[in-house]
Amino acid sequence: MFTKLARFIKTKYSRRVDKYAAKKRLQALYLLKAWEFMSDKNYEFDLVEHCYVDNRKELDDIEIIKRIVAAYNKAKAAQKSAPGFYQVGNEWLPIYEKQLKTVMQALSNEDIPALRKIYQNFWRDPCSAGLIGLPTDMGKHFFGKRILRKYKKMHLFSGLHRMKLWRSLMGRNASLDELSSPAIGNPYYCSIDGHMVKAGSDYLHYYASTIGRLTETSQTRIVVEIGGGYGGMAYYLLRDQSNLTYIDFDLPENMALTAYYLLNSFPEKKIVLFGEAELTPECIASSDILIMPNFEMDKLADNSVDLAFNSYSLAEMAPETITHYIALLSRMTRKYILHVNHTRHSLVTADEFGIDPAQFALIYKMPALWNAGVNPDMDEYEYLYRKKDAPG
Ligand SMILES: C[S@@+](CC[C@H](N)C(=O)[O-])C[C@H]1O[C@@H](n2cnc3c(N)ncnc32)[C@H](O)[C@@H]1O
Repeated sequence: MFTKLARFIKTKYSRRVDKYAAKKRLQALYLLKAWEFMSDKNYEFDLVEHCYVDNRKELDDIEIIKRIVAAYNKAKAAQKSAPGFYQVGNEWLPIYEKQLKTVMQALSNEDIPALRKIYQNFWRDPCSAGLIGLPTDMGKHFFGKRILRKYKKMHLFSGLHRMKLWRSLMGRNASLDELSSPAIGNPYYCSIDGHMVKAGSDYLHYYASTIGRLTETSQTRIVVEIGGGYGGMAYYLLRDQSNLTYIDFDLPENMALTAYYLLNSFPEKKIVLFGEAELTPECIASSDILIMPNFEMDKLADNSVDLAFNSYSLAEMAPETITHYIALLSRMTRKYILHVNHTRHSLVTADEFGIDPAQFALIYKMPALWNAGVNPDMDEYEYLYRKKDAPG
């Protein structure tokens, strides 16, 4: 009787019931988090505004931007004849149409002064939309003069939860110093034990160290990432691992941002952008970093990559793109596919990406709890697959 009534109410008022239930779940989560962090010395509302102080710096980046503009415009020209699954799609389409308009214009007009202004403010400028931040309008709630208490709470719960998770995954000896990274752009932080920890550095560092461990014994360490965001994971990977080549494939606009971050972070490394050299085995072997548009992925040879990585992006793409990328990754990877993706809030669940069980064994699937401090409905999982005929 009760179930029937509940089902009737749910169908009739479905959206309102779902919204109400989501609100209640969030309230319950916040109660639990307040209890959990009440006596933590970092649970300090007065510190939050300090974490969002505008700290952009003028960089000597003109030559870097000139290289990026050349690579971007070559990639845009070549993108026109690339197949449909390489075009921007699904959840990224609105970001392109609204948030990235200005940076796309500046890139295609080769407007160096405008690009310097944009990139020196990335993290806050819309050019990094969809890559960074809490699940709210960051500009409206965090970058103004005052941050309301409810958003300070969100900041603290997220930051403290993530830090606790990072420490539990990395072990007792992990030091906060490992999370430091160059303050390129205009980042914001979380204040932990007197350290200013860049937002999101926890998961980026964790995946970089996991990849480092998994590829440790390979002679030629080649790691491919699809959709590397601003290059945050790549930074830790390349800082901490030696003899490793990192190749990122992304849409041309994010490819430009990744190039900005990594070129500024590693002036001493050999970095190849699109159009500067052909993506051949020789070029890969002699480079540290290659930042390419997605359609260049076809050029990688079978079994030429030790580990392929993707985080928080495959599930956001169009189904035909996912199928194509999984086929490509399966072909080019000789050992591991590691990915972190949505299982419910996406067109295709990460459980059904189509990684062939005859070719790859699932080593583990585990919840990726990074967002669980502020999202009671989180659905992200981390998956590690190993090729069945992998060497060693
Ligand atoms: C939510 S961000 C995640 C960034 C980063 N992996 C992280 O975890 O912080 C999604 C990334 O996927 C990229 N992306 C979106 N559609 C793509 C496509 N069709 N091909 C390649 N990359 C794509 C975006 O440009 C962006 O770099």
